[in-house]
Amino acid sequence: MKPLSEKIKNIAGSATMEIANTAKKMQMEGIDVISLSLGEPDFATPEHITNACIEALNRGETHYTASNGIPELLSAISQKVNRENNFSLGPDEVIVTAGAKDAIYETMEAVLNPTDEVIILDPSWVSYEPCVRLAGAKVSHYSLKEPGFQIDDGIIEQVNSKTKMVVINSPSNPSGSILSHDSLNLVKDICIDNDLYALSDEIYEKLVYETSHTSLASLEGMIDRTITINGFSKAYAMTGWRLGYALANEKIIREMSKVQQHTISHPTTFAMWGGVAALNGPQNCVGLMREEFDCRRRFVISKLLDMGYTTAPANGAFYAYIKTPGDDLDIARKWLNNAHVAVTPGSAFGHPGWQRLSYAASMEKLTIAMERIERITE
Ligand SMILES: Cc1ncc(COP(=O)(O)O)c(C=O)c1O
Repeated sequence: MKPLSEKIKNIAGSATMEIANTAKKMQMEGIDVISLSLGEPDFATPEHITNACIEALNRGETHYTASNGIPELLSAISQKVNRENNFSLGPDEVIVTAGAKDAIYETMEAVLNPTDEVIILDPSWVSYEPCVRLAGAKVSHYSLKEPGFQIDDGIIEQVNSKTKMVVINSPSNPSGSILSHDSLNLVKDICIDNDLYALSDEIYEKLVYETSHTSLASLEGMIDRTITINGFSKAYAMTGWRLGYALANEKIIREMSKVQQHTISHPTTFAMWGGVAALNGPQNCVGLMREEFDCRRRFVISKLLDMGYTTAPANGAFYAYIKTPGDDLDIARKWLNNAHVAVTPGSAFGHPGWQRLSYAASMEKLTIAMERIERITE
């Protein structure tokens, strides 16, 4: 038979999924593995959101709808950013997608040509590079500067005549760090000076501790060139709903809409009604989840520091990012086999020598996991 696609052959599967799968297999064999390798809130979706979806199903909202999303959700998203994010875009400048991941994929397809380059900041979430490559373009890696995981002037040297986009993700998966105003301003400057687009993935914006979130699109001159990505998975514990969105100028949204029309058509109709309830309904559920994550964050970080580990500044998301000098894959294997704790090695994020530990797990599990890590660290 003729060979399958070269483009797909050269794209690796999701490294975070692979590790989680090994942990699951061990669990199925009866081994008591604590998996801290996946980025998924361990809370149920708030009831007023699931009820809105059930009501939509009962009303018969089970048919095709507008490709960019139901008007009620487009308006709710537009109002949300006007209210919370300090930039103003209308419902025609929004597209609802099947998860934030789909919004990122559609952005790359809509914006990039095969000769283009995209700057990605390492450590970076696992799907940015594959999405760029699926669109046929190339990635150029810039390493965030430790210990703060910030951007310095060196990023200017990363730009060449082929550069078309910069991808930022603050709060960050995997580091849990937040880009400072200086870092955001450097991104703004290189975008404006070199006529670049920016993709700003703000999916963890509600999980920010001891500081506040700034949207890149709110910086002067950035609204027209920024594609803001967000969604419901992390803020409202809705990972399985597959609901996300992008905001950008109408020209970009129109091109993304073509990708959507010819692939998924639109996100699931009744799920979008859950999205409307999430954004327009009471927000105390978000605060309660954040408080719980914050407790776990303080606990995990203080335990790790007591054990002598160095961690990245953990001001956002639900990840502790731990420096583990040596081969990070070997160390992740050792933690899994000897301590029965699954984490994700930094190599998965283009950043060897570190481990990402997700604290989206109960305090009980985290307490046992910390004891086990301590035992093999001594
Ligand atoms: C940084 C980042 N962006 C996007 C996503 C995808 O989110 P969604 O579930 O909405 O597709 C994730 C999920 O892990 C993520 O960590």
